[in-house]
Amino acid sequence: MLVALDKKYKELFNQVPMLVRSPGRINIIGEHTDYNEGFVLPAAIDKAIYVAVGQRTDNEIHLYSVDFKEAYKVAISDLQPTETWATYILGVADQLIKRGYKIGGFNLVIDGDVPLGAGLSSSAAVECATVFALKELFALGIDRMEMVKIAQKAEHEYAGVMCGIMDQFASMFGKKDHVIKLDCRSLEYEYMPLKLDGYKLVLFNSNVKHSLASTEYNTRRQQCEQGVAWVKEHHPHVNSLRDVSIQMLQQYVLPKDELVFTRCKFVVEEIQRLLTACEDLQKGDIVSLGKKMFATHEGLSKEYEVSCEELDYLVNAVKHNPAVLGARVMGGGFGGCTINIIREDAVEGIVEKLAISYKAAMGLHLSSYSVQTDDGTSIVYL
Ligand code: GLA
Repeated sequence: MLVALDKKYKELFNQVPMLVRSPGRINIIGEHTDYNEGFVLPAAIDKAIYVAVGQRTDNEIHLYSVDFKEAYKVAISDLQPTETWATYILGVADQLIKRGYKIGGFNLVIDGDVPLGAGLSSSAAVECATVFALKELFALGIDRMEMVKIAQKAEHEYAGVMCGIMDQFASMFGKKDHVIKLDCRSLEYEYMPLKLDGYKLVLFNSNVKHSLASTEYNTRRQQCEQGVAWVKEHHPHVNSLRDVSIQMLQQYVLPKDELVFTRCKFVVEEIQRLLTACEDLQKGDIVSLGKKMFATHEGLSKEYEVSCEELDYLVNAVKHNPAVLGARVMGGGFGGCTINIIREDAVEGIVEKLAISYKAAMGLHLSSYSVQTDDGTSIVYL
């Protein structure tokens, strides 16, 4: 893919490009906790977005997507969001300019093997690849954490999704054979070795993406903020659900709005669940970790209500299989993938059977990927 990307760039722009890779991500546990100042436990994976970039002598941005076979051209002075794949790239350029970084015109060709709309954060990978590439190209001297924040803001302003920091962080900071325990309040993080002796991480892609995903995501965020505001009336030091207990929710939120209570309760429990899951991981107790993943799914499905029929089907279908330690919807929800911990020798059989039954039940094709953890954003050399 890299060789083809390099070739395409040279063909289009008659110039030798710089190549940057930024991976997609998984998250072991800790969902919808990042924007509530909780913890997350993501890892970068061996599926990535690649960009080939080079400077231009004018002030224009010329883009080309190999996937979409489509070009996009705009003057730096005319940057604005678009409804296309280009928006993530333009959003990053716009953020850099808004923060006073000097960038000139550039060419960029993009390709990758992160499935789009599958909950593996292809958009964060595009943003991270772009910000890293532009940082190198224009010698901007921005550190990784700042790049993560720029990428996240690009998603807010150019894609309209008020995402937390997890996806961009995982893409930028990933480390092979490790998951990252990130404290989304202090932004302190710790690499934890991921040892799954005899087991594999397998993703089942439902191949659905429900159109309400981004609006519902933003609504969940508001519901959490509402819950916090009601608690804060009585406990002024409380700034996020990280500071809130179930008891506070029962006292101050439940009487006002049951739905907001249920949403907040899930988040508070999920933050706790992640902390105990980290202990499991440290002890090498993946059986216990797996059980927590099922519990997370239950909460995401029944309380936070970000699952859907297809994802519930995929989790329920493996739930009682002794070779599957854990399974749950991963990422924002409303489609995309489930993440599963499956005994190595059982993977093939399960994949085969599930593909058939999923097709029969939902009328949809099932894709599955066995993923490895990998390093974060970097330059690549051919
Ligand atoms: C999406 C967002 C993340 C995070 C997850 C849910 O992937 O981009 O910031 O909130 O959903 O955990």
